[in-house]
Amino acid sequence: MSNSLVEKIKQITANNHSSVVQNRRWLHQHPELSFEEIHTSQFIQNRLNELGIEFTKGIVKTGIVAFIKGRNPEKKTIALRADMDALPILEENDISYKSQNDGVMHACGHDVHSASLLGVAEVLSQLTQEFEGTLKLIFQPGEEKLPGGASLMIKEGVLENPTPQAILGQHVFPDLPAGKVGFRSGMYMASCDELYLTVKGKGGHAALPHKFTDTVLIACEIISSLQQIVSRKARPDIPSVLSFGKINSTGGATNIIPDEVKIEGTFRTMNEEWRTEAHEAMVELAQGIAKSMGGTCEFEVRKGYPFLKNDETLTGRAKEAAIQYIGKENVVELDLRMTGEDFSYYTQSLPGCFYRLGTGDSSGLHTPTFNVDESSLELGVGLMSWIAINLLNEQ
Ligand code: NI
Repeated sequence: MSNSLVEKIKQITANNHSSVVQNRRWLHQHPELSFEEIHTSQFIQNRLNELGIEFTKGIVKTGIVAFIKGRNPEKKTIALRADMDALPILEENDISYKSQNDGVMHACGHDVHSASLLGVAEVLSQLTQEFEGTLKLIFQPGEEKLPGGASLMIKEGVLENPTPQAILGQHVFPDLPAGKVGFRSGMYMASCDELYLTVKGKGGHAALPHKFTDTVLIACEIISSLQQIVSRKARPDIPSVLSFGKINSTGGATNIIPDEVKIEGTFRTMNEEWRTEAHEAMVELAQGIAKSMGGTCEFEVRKGYPFLKNDETLTGRAKEAAIQYIGKENVVELDLRMTGEDFSYYTQSLPGCFYRLGTGDSSGLHTPTFNVDESSLELGVGLMSWIAINLLNEQ
């Protein structure tokens, strides 16, 4: 494909940059929690209407799917996805476009994702003669909350009529400066499951442990023994993490052994078979320990998102396109991440590529002072447009 098309895209994104930033700031100022993105969705619909782009709304209540058709629209379909929801965090940034919805904040950059995808819509609706096939733009609710907007949109048929051949998703990344992007082929992000354990037994005076069940000691044994699942059972090529973040009892004291101790944790990994096996092994081990020490253990595994695998061929092509667009020095290889992302549901049913847009030095994602270097949006819009066109036009 010609370099002149790259130049054209760069020119359009330079011209549109201020309106993309304006959109992003409006979204930032009006954040809404997962599955409650009413005004966000309306805002996006208004912009799409202004651009004359056809769309379907009301998928999982606030979700939107827009279509941009090039020449020969039946030939192929590529989907592009942006999430729309914000987090229950009180914003501490001192900025003119600070959240007006107290206690709710775009601290994961989904305002950037939605504004960028609107920018992509604007670019590609001006270039319909330059590509073949159809673009399916997915504005998704509820990424931050189980069971995840992606899984629900898929249930409501977002990947049908027409079925895309591939899907792209972009996420802000404070670890990289604006102007750079990162890719990773294959396994990239982890499945995330929540663990809830309740150890039970007849507690009593701490001075007379021989007469009672020591639920606290059982809980301690369970916590340390469960680490064996990761250190002794997991295959060396499958990353796994087990962490407990909460341990609590009702009624205990220095001299009272409680009847009940509750433990909460997370288990993350990157292989579905091992994930199931590990769940079973953890339950068996915890219950066996409790029983051997005279108590019981209720063990609930609340399954979260599956692990995210980037399709190797697709990611290779997307990375190649990125190198053409911004040069090799600005395209980096990403490390594995043990965080989760519901884009993984799309990658289970079709080739997907989830890549990272450098958004500059900031406090981390999900913190009250998270923000982005807004110059990154120009690349966010241009690069996604360029990759999408490349995928549509390849033979
Ligand atoms: Ni996010």
